[in-house]
Amino acid sequence: MTGPLWTFAEIAAATKGRARRDGEVFGVAVDSKEICHGDLFIALSGSTHDGHEFVREALGKGAVAALIAKTPKGMKGTDPRLIRVKNTMAGLRALAQAARKRTTARIIAVTGSAGKTGTKNAIYQALLGKGLTHTSERSFNNHVGVPLSLARLPREAKFAVLEIGMNAPGEIAPLAKLVKPQVALITAIGRAHVAAFKTERDIAREKASIFDGLAPGGVAIVNADAPFAAALLRAAKDAGAKEILTYSLKNKGADALPVKLAYAETCTCLTAKVADSLITFKIAMPGRHWVSNGLATLLAIKAVGGDLGLAGLALASLAPLPGRGTVHDITAEKGAFRVVDDSYNANPASFQAALETFAAMGPAAAAGRKIGVFADMEELGAQSRKDHLALKKTVVAAGLTCLYVKGPGMEALLDALKGRIKGFAFSENQGLFQKLKQDLRNGDLVLVKGSRRAGLDQVVDQLLALRTGRNVSGWGAPVEAAE
Ligand SMILES: Nc1ncnc2c1ncn2[C@@H]1O[C@H](COP(=O)(O)OP(=O)(O)O)[C@@H](O)[C@H]1O
Ligand SMILES: [Mg+2]
Repeated sequence: MTGPLWTFAEIAAATKGRARRDGEVFGVAVDSKEICHGDLFIALSGSTHDGHEFVREALGKGAVAALIAKTPKGMKGTDPRLIRVKNTMAGLRALAQAARKRTTARIIAVTGSAGKTGTKNAIYQALLGKGLTHTSERSFNNHVGVPLSLARLPREAKFAVLEIGMNAPGEIAPLAKLVKPQVALITAIGRAHVAAFKTERDIAREKASIFDGLAPGGVAIVNADAPFAAALLRAAKDAGAKEILTYSLKNKGADALPVKLAYAETCTCLTAKVADSLITFKIAMPGRHWVSNGLATLLAIKAVGGDLGLAGLALASLAPLPGRGTVHDITAEKGAFRVVDDSYNANPASFQAALETFAAMGPAAAAGRKIGVFADMEELGAQSRKDHLALKKTVVAAGLTCLYVKGPGMEALLDALKGRIKGFAFSENQGLFQKLKQDLRNGDLVLVKGSRRAGLDQVVDQLLALRTGRNVSGWGAPVEAAE
């Protein structure tokens, strides 16, 4: 049995707030919909909602205390469940700082343009067998998600692995400084959220600012295959990293690299050199990008004194996150087809990775075709059209023969592929699904990918609803609910 996460007195001391009595909380939440019994509810004021309006609901659902900056309507200011601070966002950050200060856990922070959540989860799974391990929920990686994840750090934790993300320049460094990780890891660098950045180099620089938060004696882990890897290494050195470890699929000088590789449709088997160890293991996710994420995971485990053997076992039993490559085998009235659900999100790096993985997959039956259901990659700014057109070669190489697209970028891509690939453009998901449903044939293999805003998960849900009789899912159940 683990003890309370915080006492009221500790919360008040950390946030310079005022508690009217002592008590204990076992969790922290900022969303009244996600309250668990025994939580502290922090009433943040967002652009659309003011958390103070939800305090009563949160308390009704089992929260035992609320951090507030003003008395919620319908409540008495003297209510002993209220802990009053000047500013609740500052309160959340202060609680995160207090959690960081008191912990003896080894902390790993993960950033990158793609693969953050997947790698974070792999590291988490790999550390579980070694001691109490904490991790950020889903993709809680921003100015709220990071402090919230820290504030939830159990006092007895031996390890923690947290995701750090960004939408605009300057966001990563303050979050990294809050987390003060002993190990900071960068996955892929690519064009994502570039509307807010001038160049890919600027993105690399922003990602590299994670190293500014390294705890003294910290370890930097860098993907030597990423664009601007040299700049990342330099940034790690300038930030004073005590040790800099690299991983690569091809660079013989890297600290972690594959020695032997066998790619399969749904997994990869490999022997890798990781520092001075040689280990043979399986990664239960297909594609080169997952070899990369797997090597990064092993280096991170090594850096915090984890167990490489346990890490190998964890990688062999990874389950895909919802919408990040889940394979569904669907038996419908018209026949059996396979859907690769990568609908969670899309940017150029993840689109290339998904297409490369799809290239290695065969249709579900001899007569089947390879079909793409693609929506635009968002937030690419002025280069958007160019980024979409840049997928042309990979789409052809992936063996796709038919595309169902949504959005101007994907329409431009379809146009550029005219004569080589058949395709249809739609302005909304319903029309797209109806046409796809009509055209689907036995044995078809369908890749669904687009930015989150496009909501292509609706198309996947509709495809799943076509199921009749016995169906099997290729890769087992997802490990968490979608965000
Ligand atoms: N190392 C990588 N390089 C490029 N693409 C990747 C990598 N790892 C995962 N991906 C792709 O990115 C998608 C999103 O993965 P996720 O782990 O959720 O990333 P993030 O948390 O950075 O948004 C996956 O579906 C996969 O297609
Ligand atoms: Mg994420």
